[in-house]
Amino acid sequence: MASFKLVWLFCLHFTLLERPASAHFIVNTPPPLGNNINNEDIAPCGGFTPSGSDTLTAFHVGGDAIDLTTLHAQSYFDFLGMLGDSLSSNWTFLIPTVEQYGLNGFCEPSVEVPASWAGSNGLLQIIQDSEDGVHYQCMHVNFVASVGSPNSACTNSSGVSAQFATDPNLATVDGQTTTAAATSAVPKTPSSATSSAQTSASTSPSKSAAVPTAMFETFWNWVLLIGFIVISIALLAS
Ligand SMILES: *[C@@H]1O[C@H](CO)[C@@H](O)[C@H](O)[C@H]1NC(C)=O
Ligand SMILES: *[C@@H]1O[C@H](CO)[C@@H](O)[C@H](O)[C@H]1NC(C)=O
Repeated sequence: MASFKLVWLFCLHFTLLERPASAHFIVNTPPPLGNNINNEDIAPCGGFTPSGSDTLTAFHVGGDAIDLTTLHAQSYFDFLGMLGDSLSSNWTFLIPTVEQYGLNGFCEPSVEVPASWAGSNGLLQIIQDSEDGVHYQCMHVNFVASVGSPNSACTNSSGVSAQFATDPNLATVDGQTTTAAATSAVPKTPSSATSSAQTSASTSPSKSAAVPTAMFETFWNWVLLIGFIVISIALLAS
């Protein structure tokens, strides 16, 4: 019984203390400049600055995988890129804004960048707009010719879905941090990987669709928390 109590307290520790720190999104592939959950809201790269000594990851201009772990039940993502590492704000949209539902693995298996970027170094940027704010991550890459193949770990978890959508909030953020925002209004031809998503974007869901999800999530967070506390008190008193 005593060891069970210990295990329970261990779980409780993670529930109460670690949850706020695991709140946004993690980039698995290509590796990000860094991931500090406390700075993830700092534009343009979540508090990190690219440098010449970064290890660069090859990214195929004809389409390559971006693998995320998302820790929000609903959020919008923008995928951008630029040449060089001067953070000059000249970001180019790679695909239209994506509205994504569901937790854990979210894999965009074939994101293209302009073919002319092959042979140059550059940055990829992901911006997430979720219920608790806007978060940023960047990846330092060298763009190479042809098409990449996603590794087998790059998958969508069950219950994960996504479609192209409009997010008024991200449009504002992008307007301030990019000079290429106009390209988002004229999405380039989606790759085969995203063409089905493009079709469903015509239903153009609005931000309001996200509100019940967020409320639902918060409600269950509280139920979970109170449940943990009640069971803990019962256990410790036993
Ligand atoms: C911005 O990036 C695009 C794509 O790489 C490039 O063609 C353009 O010249 C850049 N503009 C500025 C002002 O640097
Ligand atoms: C994950 O879901 C998105 C949206 O439906 C889709 O475009 C993408 O191809 C999926 N990823 C994989 C690896 O199947």
